[in-house]
Amino acid sequence: MRRINTTIPLLSLLARISRAAYTLHDDYETTDVFFDRFNFFTDVDPTHGYVSYMNRSAATVRGLIEAMGSSVYIGVDAEHQASGSGRQSVRLTSTRSYGHGLFILDLAHMPASVCGTWPAFWMLGADWPNDGEIDIIEGVNSQSVNQMTLHTKDGCSIQNSGFTGSLEYSNCYVGAPGQPLNSGCAILSGSPQSYGDGFNNAGGGIYATEWKSAGIKVWHFPRYGIPWNIIIGQPDPATWGTPSAAFSEYCDIDNHFKDLRIVFDITFCGDWAGNVWSSGSCASQAPTCNLFVQNNPAAFKEVFWRVNSLKVYQDNARPPLGSPSAPPGYSSVHRAIGESVSRKDATPFTRPGPRHFRHGHKGRERA
Ligand SMILES: *[C@@H]1O[C@H](CO)[C@@H](O)[C@H](O)[C@H]1NC(C)=O
Repeated sequence: MRRINTTIPLLSLLARISRAAYTLHDDYETTDVFFDRFNFFTDVDPTHGYVSYMNRSAATVRGLIEAMGSSVYIGVDAEHQASGSGRQSVRLTSTRSYGHGLFILDLAHMPASVCGTWPAFWMLGADWPNDGEIDIIEGVNSQSVNQMTLHTKDGCSIQNSGFTGSLEYSNCYVGAPGQPLNSGCAILSGSPQSYGDGFNNAGGGIYATEWKSAGIKVWHFPRYGIPWNIIIGQPDPATWGTPSAAFSEYCDIDNHFKDLRIVFDITFCGDWAGNVWSSGSCASQAPTCNLFVQNNPAAFKEVFWRVNSLKVYQDNARPPLGSPSAPPGYSSVHRAIGESVSRKDATPFTRPGPRHFRHGHKGRERA
């Protein structure tokens, strides 16, 4: 009897070890170190937004970014009439790139659902669309639920099951016939707490993205519903239930996604928010999206990210695909070879058709 009593706990311990394999790989912290780990994109917005992306020193002086110790603030100019290329904001791209992993973002606040805005938290490769793109949090204007999207080269589709959200498009290929150009495969969250004001009114929450060969899944947890194993730093997706979005089945994930960098940005108008302006509820605010954004700084007071934590976990049992860190010298050239071919851009060499139709069809805005 004593032998059995000692054997059972040992077996269950072994079972636990073999399942909960995610361990912390990168913690972005909430001090100035956070901003050391991102490059500040300062080119013209590839998505044609009415925005002026600031470098780190200018963004600091103007109060657009701040590391507060327990959180990091990433915002926009909400004080001045905009001029030049548009309202001041930042676009951050992680210096590290990633393969398989579990990416857990805890936000106290995300950009509110404000006319003219187009915020996103996403992952982008250097060679678009061949390296793939994962959009984890994204929306425009007064949208009320989050949209999660993949953008890929040809040969990747997803099945309409295994998630709580609703499927908008199933083909992830940016040039898929029968879908708006570059719509990608997209899933809308079913939760009003997933985006903008609804997310913030719930006290923020967590977005957890699991990327492995079998598929890519996104979970959203409002503040009151965060799994205990996330809180204690031992995240176990197997216990989290059905995700908001799951991208799997008709896609060789490892052949369509590699070496992605984490991006935070807030742009205005442009290819999506601007293109749907006249057809949505924001149209009554101003004749054009740009005019609204230019002349109403106070409208953007709640348009900011407040990051409680950003942690990347990796499965120890399986080494990650792709490089865990940027190759030497990458950051100095990355704008040239990486950012200029983002999803939101796409050079004429990589993307068919006109450049300005991303999300450019009617009916995307959900007020
Ligand atoms: C940052 O931007 C400011 C204002 O746009 C500019 O004056 C400054 O030279 C830039 N600094 C660097 C390091 O590029």
